[in-house]
Amino acid sequence: MARISVDVDGSRYTDEVEPRMLLVQYLRERLGKVGTVVGCDTGNCGACTVHLGGRSAKSCSVLAVQADGQQVTTVEGLARDGELHPVQAAFHDNHALQCGFCTPGMIMQSLDLLAEQPDPDDDQVREGLEGNLCRCTGYQNIVRAVRDAADRMRPGAGPEAERTAAGAQTPHPRESADSAERTGGRQG
Ligand code: FES
Ligand code: FES
Repeated sequence: MARISVDVDGSRYTDEVEPRMLLVQYLRERLGKVGTVVGCDTGNCGACTVHLGGRSAKSCSVLAVQADGQQVTTVEGLARDGELHPVQAAFHDNHALQCGFCTPGMIMQSLDLLAEQPDPDDDQVREGLEGNLCRCTGYQNIVRAVRDAADRMRPGAGPEAERTAAGAQTPHPRESADSAERTGGRQG
């Protein structure tokens, strides 16, 4: 067993884990972060995408021990004070989901894309999301949503714009204010 300490969605967790445990298993089975889903377990679909150390990562391709000492953000850490993050709101408003299974990963990857390219065109969105698959093939609306999110996050676009793409990579709504230290996780 290995001892890890990870900041997930603004809370600190310290746990003993098997060295072979995947980050996605740790998030779902130990922390109950079931908003992060497993679509393939082979690194192909992107459904399990989270942010690790501020960049997107497929959590089925990362060991939990590799997250030790790092900051992890899941889709569950994006909303703030009960209000959807602009990217979440844009996906909702543009009907950018059908079954919704790919959506958590799409949203997390979109945030990474917008941090790199705050005003992407359609091709850049498609390229930025090429590692994420939507089996419902809802790509048109997903591209539309990401471009809408870019508009919403543009400086001067209103209160939502304060939550810039860069800031969105560490969007912990609770930040350090009520960051809880927990030792010994629930057993999955
Ligand atoms: Fe991780 Fe498909 S579940 S890439
Ligand atoms: Fe069903 Fe994308 S909405 S997989």
